[in-house]
Amino acid sequence: MTTSSAPGKIILCGEHAVVYGRPALAIPVTQVHADVQVSSRARAGIWIDAPDVNLHAELNTLASDHPIASVINNLFFLLHAVPFPNLEIKIDSTIPVASGLGSGAAVTVALTRALSSYLNHPLTDEEVNGFAYEIEKLYHGTPSGIDNTVVTYAKPVYFAKGQPIETFKVGALFTIVIADTGISAPTKESVGDVRKLWEADQKRWEKVFDEVADISFAARRVIEEGWITMLGVLMDENHALLQQMTVSSPELDRLVEVARKAGALGAKLSGGGRGGNLIALVDPKMAEDVSVSLKEAGAKNTIVTQVS
Ligand code: PMV
Repeated sequence: MTTSSAPGKIILCGEHAVVYGRPALAIPVTQVHADVQVSSRARAGIWIDAPDVNLHAELNTLASDHPIASVINNLFFLLHAVPFPNLEIKIDSTIPVASGLGSGAAVTVALTRALSSYLNHPLTDEEVNGFAYEIEKLYHGTPSGIDNTVVTYAKPVYFAKGQPIETFKVGALFTIVIADTGISAPTKESVGDVRKLWEADQKRWEKVFDEVADISFAARRVIEEGWITMLGVLMDENHALLQQMTVSSPELDRLVEVARKAGALGAKLSGGGRGGNLIALVDPKMAEDVSVSLKEAGAKNTIVTQVS
């Protein structure tokens, strides 16, 4: 039997602009994870149990574009595992789906590692990341690759499309409250809408993306130095630029405001936007108060994560 686990993730800053080559920062969120177990099966075929998405089926009954089927089929062809071995695959995930926490990428990465180890063909992180990016492209149109990268390496990353992956050090521990609006919003749509804005006025949006790039650059610096209060200011600025890109929503704006009023040092939407999650930077002593205020104001769930 082989097992593998991959964490969730959040984007600290730079989402959307990252699709246009600007840098973004993302961190793993280890409180939530996807876990995969692969074992042999006496009967013929590949049986998949993924209770979180209510999937209990033989591989050959799934549509070929089913995300899980597509990971298995593509990986087995890539590794020349034909005919396919008889297997039982169990997938458990505590990462909420379609909310910007990287659930798809985490399942892909954990499944890829567990299957390749089972075949005695373990892949390097670089190979896992490259494969997961190809899978992301099948489902998300023009993804930047930030999700698969942070989930594969499970470290804070400073990510720019096409550039070597850079991890960065964290000068002083900081605390983030992640709050789920409970609204599921496909990233593909918000990315597509930003694309339309950009196509209609490239000059204007390139300038906005440059401002986001300055924020990501400065955020990396302040995190490395441990200047946490300044990180909060940068997060607020980034949220304002995301509002301009039309990827915030009344609910996200309201909860961002609630977090700030409850004492957060800064707050912003995280990920594709329109719904999904927001993040608030807090003094550790304030984490509970900010979480409670967000839940009272309608957040469906909160996760407190320490970045160190
Ligand atoms: O919604 P998420 O967390 O998967 O993040 C998407 C981030 C975007 O920058 C909006 C898109 C991308 O591919 O980078």
